[in-house]
Amino acid sequence: MALRAAISCRVLIKSSAVLGVRSMSSSSSWWRSVDPAPKDPILGVTEAYLADPCPDKVNVGVGAYRDDNGKPVVLECVREAERRIAGSFNMEYLPMGGSINMIEESLKLAYGENSDLLKEKRIGAIQSLSGTGACRIFAEFQKRFCPDSQVFIPVPTWSNHHNIWRDANVTQKTYRYYHPESRGLDFIGMIEDIKSAPNGSFFLLHACAHNPTGVDPSEEQWKEISHQFKVKGHFAFFDMAYQGFASGNTEKDAKAIRIFIEDGHPVGCAQSYAKNMGLYGQRVGCLSVVCDDAKQAVAVKSQLQQLARPMYSNPPVHGALVVSTILGDPELKKLWLREVKGMADRIIRTRAALRESLEKLGSPLSWEHVTNQIGMFCYSGLTPEQVDRLTNEFHIYLTRNGRISMAGVTSGNVGYLANAIHEVTKYG
Ligand code: LMR
Repeated sequence: MALRAAISCRVLIKSSAVLGVRSMSSSSSWWRSVDPAPKDPILGVTEAYLADPCPDKVNVGVGAYRDDNGKPVVLECVREAERRIAGSFNMEYLPMGGSINMIEESLKLAYGENSDLLKEKRIGAIQSLSGTGACRIFAEFQKRFCPDSQVFIPVPTWSNHHNIWRDANVTQKTYRYYHPESRGLDFIGMIEDIKSAPNGSFFLLHACAHNPTGVDPSEEQWKEISHQFKVKGHFAFFDMAYQGFASGNTEKDAKAIRIFIEDGHPVGCAQSYAKNMGLYGQRVGCLSVVCDDAKQAVAVKSQLQQLARPMYSNPPVHGALVVSTILGDPELKKLWLREVKGMADRIIRTRAALRESLEKLGSPLSWEHVTNQIGMFCYSGLTPEQVDRLTNEFHIYLTRNGRISMAGVTSGNVGYLANAIHEVTKYG
């Protein structure tokens, strides 16, 4: 059918040319109804920033770490891993499920070095195309094996979560998470929504450093959330894109998952090495699903890789080698943990500097939340109109929900940023 349509289309183009009729290019005839896609709310900000010739421009849109000179960072442990890898590996395909070593190391990181789940081989896991790929494969898995299920997503969340579950055709519901008045967690609302969701619902949770709010439940609150999940028989899927980035300690940042595991939940988890190893463009991560036993884990893994096969066949090798080299060598791992802490600490210092600058300018507003929030982002409370003014008048680029990527703030631009924020907020 398709072949016949293509042949008749070519015939049409040829005869039009002979008749001198305006030739119809195949692209205009085939894709006439395609409108430009809307700009991505996060990556579109980078596009706009790059197009701005102003020398003073500032990009606090995308969550990508920069050093205090505003430059991208390649970690020393990554450089060393690359030196070790160079020349010593071939370029063969990885298995469909990815690098076994990388997966093993990732599971230790998420679930704990001595986790019984690992000893009992109860986790079905594959290497993923970073955190996005892990979420997407999980969403497809959910749709395939629980076709009538829906997913509860926090308000707000990383904008791409909506795209991922939409494209996997999973119905999305929301649960309350952020409390705009206190600029903190809406714990009461969250618990109410967990309780009122149908028993056995899927919930997307941010394991730490919630994106975009920078607001995480406390340990006590996680315990209560886990308890309520138990009562309702919900399934927790953790997106853990920032392990180590919140507190500077990878164990501490895995606390939420560990609490759920202690309570016997069969969780799922998306891990990413974009932020905590700075491997943004390598697209390396891990998707894991905790199962009842080893046999189930084998079956789940086989289905996860079966989902990956028609999408991209098998994942790329380089990033996986970097990760397994670092995590598999005690000395390199130590260096990595120091470097993650260094990045987290710079962000914490930058938060303090931004708040102090705003207070020094005499801002009538409270900026306590800038230092209370955690991780890469500050959910500033700026309105979309105030964000537009920052961009149009001051060439400061951020998402319209008021999220500031603290990783883009430096000692060189913090004063400029504070001044601009003060200008657009001082009259309310
Ligand atoms: C972000 O939230 O800015 C990052 O996770 C980058 C992305 O892909 O959106």
